[in-house]
Amino acid sequence: MHPVMEHDTLDLDLLQVPEPSAIREWATERGILILAHSYQDGFLQEAAHFVGDSLELARKAAAADAKSICFCGVHFMAETAKLLSPEAKVFVPDLEAGCSLADSCKAEDLKQYQQHLTEKLGQRPTTVAYVNCSAAVKALCDIICTSGNAREVVESIPDDQPILFVPDKHLGGWLNETLGREMILWNGACEVHELFSVETLNEMKAEYPAAKVISHPECPKPVRDASDYVLGTAGMLRLVKGSHGETFIVGTEANMIYRFEKEAPQNTYLAAPGASCACNLCPYMQMNTPEKLWHELNVQANEVTIPSELFADAQQSLQRMLSIV
Ligand code: 13P
Ligand code: SF4
Repeated sequence: MHPVMEHDTLDLDLLQVPEPSAIREWATERGILILAHSYQDGFLQEAAHFVGDSLELARKAAAADAKSICFCGVHFMAETAKLLSPEAKVFVPDLEAGCSLADSCKAEDLKQYQQHLTEKLGQRPTTVAYVNCSAAVKALCDIICTSGNAREVVESIPDDQPILFVPDKHLGGWLNETLGREMILWNGACEVHELFSVETLNEMKAEYPAAKVISHPECPKPVRDASDYVLGTAGMLRLVKGSHGETFIVGTEANMIYRFEKEAPQNTYLAAPGASCACNLCPYMQMNTPEKLWHELNVQANEVTIPSELFADAQQSLQRMLSIV
């Protein structure tokens, strides 16, 4: 296998990309750990040493003693890996792979809103941030949560303490409903999950009356209410692995179905429909391709770094989360 040449004008389409298992072995020999989120396409999932949800990947990064981590996911996930594995060089196939939810909450705006709420409430609210946010936002927060531990994190905060939850209004709304809290919600949303439509979902349910609907808490309330289960991606995987001969309508990023079919092939999976299109692939996750992965493994140019003035505060918010669940 010939490593690619380090060259600015390299045409990624012309790259001879090895098979996923060969890429993984090649990386192992060089002390590179490849992590991939379950929303990555099948090739990238197969090339990775470990595939998981945001929480599992954060834990994996915290425990890693690899000298470098190639993170196949979006930017905030790679930042999390860097914060939890500061000694490792963390790099990504595409530095432009962001997240609409993370983009909806800018640190300057959050800081102003925190000040405004402190004056209005006469006390500083605890800020809980969904992990889908920048390191600068993490540094302004008290504690982080993921879709896999959000309930436990919020429940760890005393009932009488005001909470500001950022940036996802849908996940926050679901937590308020199910935990009986009245957290103040930031007005952010994921552009992928927001496009699921209850009207087309109901049409699909009528067509497959025995099917169970599983949806991510980032989905809007009408879609959550029409679902049998509202779960983060790791919870979904546990559910389908423990089910046999079921049909599931899946209300999350469609690459999740690759993992379900691989790890729980005993069931049938149908992607929940969007309002007018099959737009349930995350455009940011899809920016990572086999060619970019192979190129980046060779050149390690897209390094993810955290400004030193943010590092300790952002790391502390994440460590508080990991100390709870
Ligand atoms: P998980 O927390 O389930 O991994 O989801 C991450 C995400 O980006 C959902 O859109
Ligand atoms: Fe962000 Fe939504 Fe993509 Fe998840 S699916 S990474 S929340 S844009």
